Amino acid sequence: MRLEDLTVTKPAPTPGDTSWFTHDRFGMFIHWGLYALGARHEWLKNYERIPTEIYDTKYFKHFDPDLYDPELWAKAARDAGMKYFVVTTKHHEGFCLWDSAYTDYKAPNTPYGRDVLTPMVDAFRSNGLRVGFYHSLLDWHHPDYTVDACHPMRDNEDYIAMDKDRDITRYVEYLHNQTEELLRRYDPVDIIWFDFSVGPNARFAGKGKETWRSEELLAKIRAINPKIIIDDRLQIDQDVKTPEQYMPDEWVKVNGTPVVWEGCHTFSGSWGYYRDEQSWKSVDQLLKMLIDGVSMGGNLLLNVGPTGRGEFDERAYERLRGIGKWMRRYSRSIYGCTQAPAEFECPRDCRYTYNPETQRLYLHMYSWPFGKIRLSGEVAEHVDYIQLLSDASEMRFHYNAENRTVDIPLPVYKPLGAEIPVLEIYLK
Ligand code: GLC
Repeated sequence: MRLEDLTVTKPAPTPGDTSWFTHDRFGMFIHWGLYALGARHEWLKNYERIPTEIYDTKYFKHFDPDLYDPELWAKAARDAGMKYFVVTTKHHEGFCLWDSAYTDYKAPNTPYGRDVLTPMVDAFRSNGLRVGFYHSLLDWHHPDYTVDACHPMRDNEDYIAMDKDRDITRYVEYLHNQTEELLRRYDPVDIIWFDFSVGPNARFAGKGKETWRSEELLAKIRAINPKIIIDDRLQIDQDVKTPEQYMPDEWVKVNGTPVVWEGCHTFSGSWGYYRDEQSWKSVDQLLKMLIDGVSMGGNLLLNVGPTGRGEFDERAYERLRGIGKWMRRYSRSIYGCTQAPAEFECPRDCRYTYNPETQRLYLHMYSWPFGKIRLSGEVAEHVDYIQLLSDASEMRFHYNAENRTVDIPLPVYKPLGAEIPVLEIYLK
């Protein structure tokens, strides 16, 4: 088979511009809000059924991130090899990071006294990263937001009784206004990431695309920025599917068609800063999540939950540095790469990624086999030259036409500096 005739999967086209997105592959998610002070999950208001007055007396009144320096955040993301970031302009708690004209519930009115979003956008942009906004559809603070199954006051009969005076359409007006405000003020925003639609529930009506007036909202967004990438959680698929906290086992499909997708993951389980969480993933595990995603045509959006003083915690820095160390030598197997041609059989404990532009195939070795590694079948016919990606050292190989195999002898020990070794295979 000729190289040009191999089956390289391409995702279905979308309304926005995902060309940079499917090239860049790796972004930073940032969950930052008042919940950083609770330091025990961004859903704590819901989990602990905390009334707004108490939540605000504690957290709104004490939000003062004196060590906040977004330049440090942006550099940490850049040095880890991330090419875009998505920050929670507002999470479910309703607190706004920017100086919105539509609410008082915002960073400038806390003891910190300033908008925290503008300097963040500036810092990330000047470090070469694209800008995305996560914006919560849920709002546990807005006076017109009615109770649903995901509301902190879902068991509070007095609060529920007041729903008759709440008008969700006024809230939706606010949602639309703030979305437009964000997109205009920070134009061009590269990604808008809404979250999420509440399913129907026996006791309370769910909230979905009719409630949010999703169609209309999408039209307003596209009118401001036709290229913007929009996620799927307005209950209308747009540019990207967003599997959360699990790894798909094949390219994500909608009605059988492969689509643009991005897995979003945490370091430790929660999205907001969680001081006592001990379930931190290792650098090795996180890198394999990135590689696994790209090997199935997807992106990775990896989350950091900064502290109430405005810093990434040491555990996050340690992971980001580890990822950056690998990316410095290996990002060629990530950027511009996608799933390998369907005809290629991947050896055991390995993952392929493929760059269709340069026609190079990348073999990621999750374990170091003894003596040799063998490529069999169609792929063997296309091997032109092989090098170890870490140091461009030649890997000699033996092609056997009769068996359709390529054998690559390996040293007994994995070469130094080759953590998750990658073979760069030039195809012909
Ligand atoms: C969930 C959670 C949320 C988090 C998000 C990230 O929907 O509600 O806390 O922001 O996933 O994907």
